[in-house]
Amino acid sequence: MSAQRCSCPSDRPPAYKVLVMTPSGRELKDELRELRARGFKAVGAATWQEAEAELRNDNGIHAVLTEWRLPLAPKSAEMVEGVDLFKRILALRFEVNIFLFTAERDCTLFSAGGYTNGYFFKPDRDYEEIAKKIRAEILSSKDRAPFFDKLREYALQARDAWHTPGHSGGDSVKNSPAAGEFFKFFGPHLFQSDLSVSVPELDSLLDPSGVIKEAQDLAARAFGARYTFFSTNGTSTANKVLIQTLLKPGEAILLDRNCHKSVHYGVVISGAEPIYLKPSVNNRYGIFGPVPKASIVRAMDKAQAAGKKVKALILTNCTYDGLIYDIKDIVEEAHKRSIKVIVDEAWFGYANFHPAFYPSAMAAGADYATQSTHKTMSAFSQASMIHVQDPDFERMEGFFRENFNMHASTSPQYPMIASLDVARRQMAMEGFGLLQRILDLGDSLRRSINSLQKFRVLGLEDLISDEVRHDNVRLDRTKLTIDVSQSGYDSREIERILLSKHNIQIEKSTFNTLTVLITIGATTSKLNRLFIALENIERMSGSQRMADSFKATREFKLALSPIKYRPRFAFYCDGEKIPLREAEGRVATAMVVPYPPGIPLLVPGQVINRGIIEELAAYREYGVEIHGLPDGLVSVITADEERELARQGHEMGDNCFE
Ligand SMILES: Cc1ncc(COP(=O)(O)O)c(C=O)c1O
Repeated sequence: MSAQRCSCPSDRPPAYKVLVMTPSGRELKDELRELRARGFKAVGAATWQEAEAELRNDNGIHAVLTEWRLPLAPKSAEMVEGVDLFKRILALRFEVNIFLFTAERDCTLFSAGGYTNGYFFKPDRDYEEIAKKIRAEILSSKDRAPFFDKLREYALQARDAWHTPGHSGGDSVKNSPAAGEFFKFFGPHLFQSDLSVSVPELDSLLDPSGVIKEAQDLAARAFGARYTFFSTNGTSTANKVLIQTLLKPGEAILLDRNCHKSVHYGVVISGAEPIYLKPSVNNRYGIFGPVPKASIVRAMDKAQAAGKKVKALILTNCTYDGLIYDIKDIVEEAHKRSIKVIVDEAWFGYANFHPAFYPSAMAAGADYATQSTHKTMSAFSQASMIHVQDPDFERMEGFFRENFNMHASTSPQYPMIASLDVARRQMAMEGFGLLQRILDLGDSLRRSINSLQKFRVLGLEDLISDEVRHDNVRLDRTKLTIDVSQSGYDSREIERILLSKHNIQIEKSTFNTLTVLITIGATTSKLNRLFIALENIERMSGSQRMADSFKATREFKLALSPIKYRPRFAFYCDGEKIPLREAEGRVATAMVVPYPPGIPLLVPGQVINRGIIEELAAYREYGVEIHGLPDGLVSVITADEERELARQGHEMGDNCFE
């Protein structure tokens, strides 16, 4: 593995920042001077208290060079030492590299292998070696993007291409009257780097052994996994691959009924027996929250007592609205019962890079996590990752790969793979700082909006419902849900004004809320523009407030209903199409999914009740894109098919909604 970074813009080595932790003030001064003389930025701490402040506040720290033990505070006799010290560092900054710099000669004392990246014997005072090793470790463990580097190098070689893609590095389009604009818009680099699996130097996504494998290994390290796999068809595919790998037909999976449609499709494809968990519901704001912890535990016990082969539990953490589970506790409960845990972290890929979000699924001990790197980090759309920690993974790795290959295209997009490589490097090198910045921006936007009379950013207490009030649920402060019910407008009108008058596109809305995501691409200007726009709307609304406020203050009932037949078998019914308003009591053959966020209101086999009809009608009237409801028609199982499903024993009984 090369420690060279071909993207380094000059021959000068990058100026990494090291936090030096040494109790003696005199030694500390010398050590800082020696490191600075060798091109590092260096800051020092003589006690754990000082070190903690640096780790919390200095975004730029890449590595720590520490003594074996440090006083807790100035003049304190209490020491923080060894593994405890390393754990404290990692609890604040999982991504930093730790190097031990000690006069302790006896390595057997340390048992520090799992935590440290290097050891230096202090009396040697060999700062050349220290500098060389620290730099090499940072380069090789995180400050590289091997796939991106190789792709760029290859593209610039301008080889004659006798292989796909047909545009041949853009040659087919650049002088074309019909397609020249396309080339001009995207630029030559996109075409030159859009290559195919015929280029062996660029490795194969479906059987990686070169630069893609290296990039995946670096991602595994950054995200705290044993293995990482890149998915170029989003977390949608990642979820299906995992469910199909872990569950054979008839084996049971516990899933949040409110999970993404890809999980429901995974159930259909795998033939798994679903056990649906009922999420908490906040009807005031039309928001689904986490599944209560007690009902997850109860469902696991009930299913096992009923003799079901429960193989996996899948939850979405955090939720679309930023509600974070106490995931470690749930993982432990599942593992006590030998149930594997998959966490859909589509919206939470950055959780490993800032203590405001810790623990990520991997850090909490989950077996698998799927992440839409493209949703919250710098990767291109569709670029996702599957992280694996399952101790039994090696036994099924072949089967996992088979399933992965079943769903993956044989022509993956290389720029997308490069974007995963670079997004990972950015998070490993700068993630803490980027996240701290958006947490600060989020807090400041929250304060500004809350200074208005008619808009209010909802806090944790507003968002969660009573069922999960004692479940240690937390809020991701980079996701802001704004209550617009006092504004005189409903959220659809506000969305329209924001777009047409202020050129602002928000993430999503319910009838009385707007949700905005503060991503690592947010800027102060962008945030202030949103605030000014809301202030403007508040001023405009004036007397309209009383007249129209009824629209926005009505309570919503988010509807759920029983699943009557196994989804896989309901899915394969031919069914008949009938108007939604006439469908009460009938059973759906297909999913009906408002988008975004792609959470189905109906899944195959689910009974259509009055609440769901009303809710879907409201979504339609509201102009929300709905998949599976063309022209207001819903596909339902015919009476004959229902009889046949019952005869074949595909009724779900009381399997759903623990
Ligand atoms: C919870 C959840 N899981 C999975 C997905 C699918 O992710 P992707 O768009 O990467 O396929 C989404 C998309 O919105 C989602 O909200």
